[in-house]
Amino acid sequence: MTAEETKPEVKGIKMEEVEKHSSVDDLWLVIDGKVYDVTPFMDDHPGGGEIMLSAAGKDGTQDFEDVGHSPHARELLKKYYLDEFAGGVGSGKIATKSGGGGMSLLAVLLPILVVALAFAAKMLTA
Ligand code: HEM
Repeated sequence: MTAEETKPEVKGIKMEEVEKHSSVDDLWLVIDGKVYDVTPFMDDHPGGGEIMLSAAGKDGTQDFEDVGHSPHARELLKKYYLDEFAGGVGSGKIATKSGGGGMSLLAVLLPILVVALAFAAKMLTA
């Protein structure tokens, strides 16, 4: 018998676990106290898959609400419901701890800018 077997059922999923699913191939989001596995939705999201990544590893409620998603979007959400969110805070390694929409937008735009600059530099030196 192991210690694990005697542990009471832990209700919900902790941020520690949610954080492990923060890539385009495997994405869990915390919205309004619930955890969603939106991996199958990445390609179908009208706002794009990348933007959903900016809500990974943290409470994505604010990001989701900021967009003003339609009732249809909220209905869709149910399809991806996984479990209740058990709380906890992320390590901060994946996404910046809130800071508002500006920060996450920067996190999306910065890599694009870097690539564009590298491309420009290559063109100039060719
Ligand atoms: C995880 C669950 C999500 C679902 C089911 C979902 C669903 C949808 C749907 C159906 C639309 C089309 C417009 C509408 O019906 O409101 C939409 C648009 C959009 N979503 Fe989401 N979304 C999710 C998460 C997110 C997150 C976390 C973000 C931002 C971080 C985001 C950003 C956007 C943006 C920017 C648009 C507008 C796209 C445009 O009109 O060009 N979504 N989403």
